[in-house]
Amino acid sequence: MSAKANKFSMVTPCDSRYLELIRDFVAKIAKITGFDEEHVNKIQLSVDEACTNVVKHAYKGIDPKDIRVDVTFDQEKITVTVTDRGKGFNPDKSKLKDMDTYFNKFRRGGLGIHLIKILMDEVSYSIDPCRKNSVKMIKYLCKMESPEKKKEQQILMEESYARHK
Ligand SMILES: Nc1ncnc2c1ncn2[C@@H]1O[C@H](COP(=O)(O)OP(=O)(O)OP(=O)(O)O)[C@@H](O)[C@H]1O
Ligand SMILES: [Mg+2]
Repeated sequence: MSAKANKFSMVTPCDSRYLELIRDFVAKIAKITGFDEEHVNKIQLSVDEACTNVVKHAYKGIDPKDIRVDVTFDQEKITVTVTDRGKGFNPDKSKLKDMDTYFNKFRRGGLGIHLIKILMDEVSYSIDPCRKNSVKMIKYLCKMESPEKKKEQQILMEESYARHK
């Protein structure tokens, strides 16, 4: 781990054994930023889905395999960027738009990108295959979430926890 001002970075081998380390790293910085437990969980889960995607999808037949996590924070927000050097993908192809579709299709994948979009405030992708594929996720300290959004977040979080049991 390295740190400069409010910037922190971690690079791990691309293996699910290291996901807990990344979760702890991000959760601790989110706490320092000032997020309460509920929001720390949202940030942590989003980063976990992004890193799980790297482990599951990024590197078939490509070496070296690693996951890079960069975190910055200031008085208003935390920004987490997860980067791989794998084959790349088109995030716009993620078809899941709502949870009814997900449950009606017997929970057949496609949850991760949707979850990140709903739990975080701003999400952007930058894809450069075999060089730098990144998902950048921002959460603001003071941003109101509507009751409808909170409900959808709750359903997504419960589903994500259930899958990782
Ligand atoms: N880092 C990545 N590298 C390569 N492909 C990716 C990456 N992240 C996502 N993808 C592609 O985007 C698709 C959608 O990702 P998403 O996380 O929404 O669903 P999933 O991983 O297939 O299923 P689930 O997250 O529900 O287990 C993946 O199936 C994969 O094809
Ligand atoms: Mg996924």
